[in-house]
Amino acid sequence: MKILGIETSCDETGVAIYDEEKGLIANQLYTQIALHADYGGVVPELASRDHIRKTTPLIQAALAEANLTAEQIDGVAYTSGPGLVGALLVGSTIARALAYAWNVPAIGVHHMEGHLLAPMLDENRPHFPFIALLASGGHTQLVQVEGVGKYKVIGESIDDAAGEAFDKTAKLLGLDYPGGAALSHLAEKGSPTRFTFPRPMTDRPGLDFSFSGLKTFAANTVNQAIKAEGELTEQTKADIAYAFQEAVIDTLAIKCKRALKETGYQRLVIAGGVSANKKLRESLAKMMKDLKGEVFYPQPQFCTDNGAMIAYTGFLRLKQGQHDELEIEVKPRWPMTELSTI
Ligand code: KG4
Ligand code: ZN
Repeated sequence: MKILGIETSCDETGVAIYDEEKGLIANQLYTQIALHADYGGVVPELASRDHIRKTTPLIQAALAEANLTAEQIDGVAYTSGPGLVGALLVGSTIARALAYAWNVPAIGVHHMEGHLLAPMLDENRPHFPFIALLASGGHTQLVQVEGVGKYKVIGESIDDAAGEAFDKTAKLLGLDYPGGAALSHLAEKGSPTRFTFPRPMTDRPGLDFSFSGLKTFAANTVNQAIKAEGELTEQTKADIAYAFQEAVIDTLAIKCKRALKETGYQRLVIAGGVSANKKLRESLAKMMKDLKGEVFYPQPQFCTDNGAMIAYTGFLRLKQGQHDELEIEVKPRWPMTELSTI
């Protein structure tokens, strides 16, 4: 079975082909980051228009990469939510139209389920059950995972997502959107002792997160530094980046540890854009070693948005005979707990 996967939920056009026997046989990605750079964030209408331009050429490129013709595709998977409604409609419409023309089934995939299952694209895949920390630009959730589609959200952010906090703080430090990776790079030169940021909501029970206060704390720190130094020096920027990143990582780690303790699980999966963060990976690896458990991450290219995770998730569901009807339905908001099991 060979499944074409199409991801267009935000600012990345991703197209991939997953083969039941050979695994991932094509992976094409086009990022719109440069298009949105001048605006300091994703402009939904520009995103939709660019997905229209890029999706079909990327599908052709993916077929060429896998050395396949359209007749050899057995099903089409596409992101149907959550995400930007216009962007979702582009991928969904193209996917549905192709499936109709090729006379194969199509299925709408939940973007966060795609992130959650992305570590399964690796040879060293996690066994169920596990705790998943999903940390992206739009979501921060702790999910108790018993199997595909068996998800219980046991904690989530009550305000900003972790990636969003990275991006907002990066902006304060003068970095381009999305600044998560750049902030992390800057933090490498930062002093571990100059600033200390709070660890929000760790002093009370529960598994929810709150990251908007960290952005405010960063803004106040920036203002005080400007008052004291006249301008923000490169070293001060690096010191703030360091303290901010440590606070986010520490907060995520504390809640992961708590979730593992509460459920008795010993496996942790980290996915979503923020899971690309090297320092986070190192911290959680150390924590899991101390806890005598295991931690799994997607390969770095499958941490941020991509078509591979959608092709794979679609494959799992289509293989079980699940598929969607002809009408196109996208779900900008879509709780993961509504998903069916396989
Ligand atoms: O999963 P993703 O590609 O898109 C969403 O579904 O939102 O995640 C993008 C987010 C952005 O906020 C970006 O700044 C963040 O992931 N991100 C990082 C790193 N790489 C990407 N945050 C921290 N450190 C990184 N290395
Ligand atoms: Zn994503």
